[in-house]
Amino acid sequence: MSEPVKVHGLTEGELMEVDVAVLRTILHERVHHTIEVNMYRILSKKRGIPTNFGETAEFLLDIWKRRGLPTSDPDIQWCLNYIGFARMIRTGGELELGTELPEPFSEEEMKAVEKLIYGRRSIRQFKDEPVPDEMIRKILHAGLWAPQGCNVGSIRYIVLKTPKEFKLVRSDIPVENCVMIVVCQDMRTYKALGFDKRAPQNVYFDAGAAADHICLMAHALGLGACWLTHGEETQQRLREHFDLHEDFVSRNHIIVGWSDEAPIKSQRMNLDEVVVNI
Ligand SMILES: Cc1cc2nc3c(=O)[nH]c(=O)nc-3n(C[C@H](O)[C@H](O)[C@H](O)COP(=O)(O)O)c2cc1C
Repeated sequence: MSEPVKVHGLTEGELMEVDVAVLRTILHERVHHTIEVNMYRILSKKRGIPTNFGETAEFLLDIWKRRGLPTSDPDIQWCLNYIGFARMIRTGGELELGTELPEPFSEEEMKAVEKLIYGRRSIRQFKDEPVPDEMIRKILHAGLWAPQGCNVGSIRYIVLKTPKEFKLVRSDIPVENCVMIVVCQDMRTYKALGFDKRAPQNVYFDAGAAADHICLMAHALGLGACWLTHGEETQQRLREHFDLHEDFVSRNHIIVGWSDEAPIKSQRMNLDEVVVNI
C-alpha cells in the first residue's frame, strides 16, 4: 500500500478534521508556493512543467469542498483560479493571461503618493467626534491588503471603542476620543506551516506591514493615527476577555481619530548617511 499523501505533515484524514483556519492557510500557501511563484516562469518558457503541477493544491481544494466549506470568498476564488490554470497547463492546454505591466504614476498621482508617505505623522490627541464605522472598515481592509509572508493570512483584528474597553490594553500614553484597532494574529496559521520556527521574523513583519497600511489609510481619510506598543500582559487580557484560543496573539494597537494636534513632522537622517551601498 502506498504512503498516504501528507501536506505539511497532515494526512488526508487530519486535513478533514483540522481547524478551518489551518486548512485555509495551507491551501493559500500551497497555491502560492507550488503554482503562483512557478507559473509565470513556466509561461515564459524559462522552466518546464512539473508532472504534478498544482496537484497538491487541487487535493487541498477538494478537501475544502468535501468539508462543505464555501468557495465564494475572494481568497478561495483566487486559489480556485490558480488551481484551474495549473490543471490547464499540466494537461497541455493553452493559457492566455493579461500582459499589463505597471506604469509610472502620473505627476498628479505621484503628488498623492508623496502626500500620503511624507505627510503622515503620528497623532496622539483627538477631538471628541466619532469615527464612522465605514471609515474603520476601510482602514481595516487596507491593513488586510498589506504584503504577508507566504500569503499565510494570519491577521485578525479587535476593534475597541469605549474607555472601558481601552483599559484592556496597556498603552504608554493616554488614550481617549478615538477608536483602537488591535492587530492580532492567529498563530495556528504559522505553526501549521512550521514558519514560527523557520522564519519567526515574518510573524512580526506581517503584523507590522498591516499596521503601516492602517496608518496610511487613516491619514488618507483625513484621520490621525498612532501605532502603539503593548506586551504579553495585554495579549493575555484580550484573550481572556474575548475568550480566544491560546494561539490568538495581539501584536500592536493603532489609535485612530480626528486629529486635535498638529505636531511638527519628525525628520529622518539624510538618505546618503543610511545607504551602505548603492
Ligand atoms: C513599532 C512601533 C512602535 C511604536 N510604539 C509607540 C508607542 O508605544 N507609543 C507612542 O506614542 N508611539 C509609538 N510609535 C510611534 C513612533 O513614536 C513614531 O512613528 C515615530 O516617532 C516617528 O514619528 P512619525 O510617525 O510622526 O513619523 C511606534 C511606532 C512603531 C513603528
